[in-house]
Amino acid sequence: MSDRRAWQGEADLLGNADPAHPTAWFERLWSAARRGEVTTPWDRTDPHPALASWARPPDGPGRAAVVVGCGLGADAEHLARLGYATTAFDVSPSAVAAARTRNVGSPVTYAVADLLDLPPAWAGAFDLVVEIYTVQAVSRDVRRPMVDGVRSLVAPGGTLFVVQAAVEEPDDEGPPWPLTRAELESFGTQGLTTVAVEEIVADGRPSWRAELHRA
Ligand SMILES: C[S@@+](CC[C@H](N)C(=O)[O-])C[C@H]1O[C@@H](n2cnc3c(N)ncnc32)[C@H](O)[C@@H]1O
Repeated sequence: MSDRRAWQGEADLLGNADPAHPTAWFERLWSAARRGEVTTPWDRTDPHPALASWARPPDGPGRAAVVVGCGLGADAEHLARLGYATTAFDVSPSAVAAARTRNVGSPVTYAVADLLDLPPAWAGAFDLVVEIYTVQAVSRDVRRPMVDGVRSLVAPGGTLFVVQAAVEEPDDEGPPWPLTRAELESFGTQGLTTVAVEEIVADGRPSWRAELHRA
């Protein structure tokens, strides 16, 4: 029997351990997984079903896409197969190393970057931005700058695709910290308009799937 600890329990402990540095725990978790101390977090090899079943992705070839908080890269690999020139980033160097190891030979550009301090060259640089479960994974203290960071990546004429767990009333219990409808709708400001919002069940939870557009 494996003596690795389950990553979910580790996330519950680490996610609230350092409120002054609300994203530092991700590298602690991912590096513990790389050392074999905990099971692999957010381990999926297929694209998120809400992304895979999305009926209206813009045509991929000739367009640039970015995946926020990419983890092990399943969504980024899906976009690359659709023909997008795909960048995928994560705040955790260990997560990015794991994604590169898992996807050897991939055309995806995997990068270490922080949604709260993005490279200036990425502002408005992507025709398709995919954000699945990153904003909800970080405490509400930085929700607004996290959402601002996601929005800033969308190019003129570009599309933002979002999947987040949903909640009616905000709750301090987390991670994750699911989004209220108002928090979800906050993506659709500062030049972005909401094209569609659906209430779905994803990973057994009530969730939002949203598509937004920048004119
Ligand atoms: C809940 S996991 C989701 C991973 C992946 N998107 C998925 O759906 O499987 C959140 C991911 O976001 C990353 N992350 C958290 N804060 C971030 C930030 N400020 N900038 C970039 N990535 C971040 C974490 O390291 C983690 O890999």
